[in-house]
Amino acid sequence: MATRDPHRFVNELDEAALERLIARLESRAQDAVFARLFDKYVVRLPLPPSARVLEVGCGTGAMLRSLARRDDFTGKALGVDQCSHFIEAASQFAQAENISDRLTFKVGDAHCLDFPPATFDVVIAHTLISHVTEPAMVLSEMARVVRPGGTVVIFDGDYASLTYAFPDHGFGHQMDVALASATFNNPRIMRDLPRLLPELGLKLTAAWGDAVVEIGNGSYFKSFVETYVPYVMQAGLLPAQAVDVWLNEQRQAMENGTFFAACNYYTYLARRT
Ligand SMILES: C[S@@+](CC[C@H](N)C(=O)[O-])C[C@H]1O[C@@H](n2cnc3c(N)ncnc32)[C@H](O)[C@@H]1O
Repeated sequence: MATRDPHRFVNELDEAALERLIARLESRAQDAVFARLFDKYVVRLPLPPSARVLEVGCGTGAMLRSLARRDDFTGKALGVDQCSHFIEAASQFAQAENISDRLTFKVGDAHCLDFPPATFDVVIAHTLISHVTEPAMVLSEMARVVRPGGTVVIFDGDYASLTYAFPDHGFGHQMDVALASATFNNPRIMRDLPRLLPELGLKLTAAWGDAVVEIGNGSYFKSFVETYVPYVMQAGLLPAQAVDVWLNEQRQAMENGTFFAACNYYTYLARRT
């Protein structure tokens, strides 16, 4: 069976799988290491007092809730996602935090955004671009709906760098590759952005990389394997029994304090010319 990125094909998942993805998105947002990567670019965003912010592929809205909690954000933000289940969850989470007057969520496709040109001051894609069907089309839509002089942010992992330690290095490498291809439609897309952005009228203003590394114990990468190893199994990329052995080894390593996993993440800030 071929790989099917669960976030790309989210509308084909059953209720239980959707709930697992919701739990993963929410736990990831609370992970200190991961939350710091969001804060690191948010402080650099030019946000006027009445800023209009769009997040494409907002999932459960965890990033926009983080934004709304900031004292220096007094504007309004809108989240768009293709999955109505996620959008419903996003609205409920925002209501529960009493911030729904500043956050709105709606269903939509990042490949054809339902907004006129130049509607937003800032447009964010936070771990979206690795999942979409046509990354260049999504970037072009982001460039269209941001105002001239406004900012586009693309944050995502470079999943060719995703790695978990495993005593058999050969199988460990196969498992790294299988995890990346079962989970991400575009595992290497972040390497293409310096070339793609200028073609869309987006001038790169800043870009940097961060390594997310867990040694000894796992939290971010623990929830990653528990969520996504079933998709490696479903795709039949590697023998199920060998994948089980690998997963048990990761669980054991976390218990023993001998765990190691890492992945590079990149942030691009670009100005609409
Ligand atoms: C890994 S999640 C990230 C969610 C959120 N940005 C966060 O960081 O918590 C990727 C999201 O992209 C959404 N997505 C994927 N393809 C999409 C598309 N073509 N249009 C809109 N949303 C899409 C998925 O439904 C999913 O919610």
